[in-house]
Amino acid sequence: MTLIELSDVQEAKKRIEKFVHKTPLLHSQTLSKFSGFDLYLKLENFQRTGSFKPRGALNNIMSLPEKPKGIVTASAGNHGQALAYAGKIEHIPATIVVPDGAARSKIDAMRDMGATVIEHGKVWDDAYQKCLELAEDLGLLIIHPFNDPKTIAGQGTVALEILEKQPNTDAIIAGIGGGGLLSGIAFTAKTLKPNIKIFGVEAAGGPSMLKSLEAGHPIELKHVNTLADGLASRTVGSHTFEITKEFVDDVVMVSDQEMIAAIWLLLERCKILAEMAGASSVASALNKKIPLEAGSKVVCVVSGGNIDLSQLSEFIQHQQNKHK
Ligand SMILES: Cc1ncc(COP(=O)(O)O)c(C=O)c1O
Repeated sequence: MTLIELSDVQEAKKRIEKFVHKTPLLHSQTLSKFSGFDLYLKLENFQRTGSFKPRGALNNIMSLPEKPKGIVTASAGNHGQALAYAGKIEHIPATIVVPDGAARSKIDAMRDMGATVIEHGKVWDDAYQKCLELAEDLGLLIIHPFNDPKTIAGQGTVALEILEKQPNTDAIIAGIGGGGLLSGIAFTAKTLKPNIKIFGVEAAGGPSMLKSLEAGHPIELKHVNTLADGLASRTVGSHTFEITKEFVDDVVMVSDQEMIAAIWLLLERCKILAEMAGASSVASALNKKIPLEAGSKVVCVVSGGNIDLSQLSEFIQHQQNKHK
């Protein structure tokens, strides 16, 4: 049985459209020049809560047959914010477990939306263990950040919007954490336009999807080492793995330094603020990691913009020192 159908994504779009923005798709001359592609940016940093995540979270919660007494998830931040937002809209108490050191701006935003935030563990997978315990002890419903057909269908609405606005897109690039965003986009875009190319980007310090594809099944990395919290997952999902295997053309890696340089360029030249994971797609295009002909019409999904300002100022300082 197919995990999701195109109709699931189309229904997701209708279900969530009152509560999410149709984000801009902007052409960038500067990034086209530097990458050699005809480069567009799908600006999910301008999505509600600052990332694409409300698409999946809202679709998930709004499809539930009955309201749970509470919802819980583990999230490096953006899915947590999205769940806090969805809980607020649907009047369901939300509890979010985040790994220690998650961006303060993201935690504050979740609390502002009324969610309970618990800091636990080093990386996402540790936080997820805590989330399982809370669900069991308190009877809360777990909303998985990526490995759930409703979440994947919600994220697929990004591809519907891209192809609606720019039907002659040759390729879409997006970052991979657990693989929900990329698998939603890949399934949707390839179903609508089989000859489109789809590329996923991982942090070099946490290539869980690449290693899983090499192994032929989802594997667990012993550790991850990247500042890109949205990409720092030790595992990928069983569903996201299967969809990626079938619909994604290639998965490439970028270094933290390449993402920092992309953040800097996006800010300085395009006036766009991206977080590390959000800039990973642009980093891959700028560093010639994407095997496509020059001039191809490429959409980079800028998947989020939730960066701590103190971290941003460090990056700016770092890049300025490099350019001296
Ligand atoms: C900004 C951003 N981009 C990309 C991703 C990766 O999404 P997924 O876990 O669905 O692969 C995340 C995940 O948290 C994120 O926050």
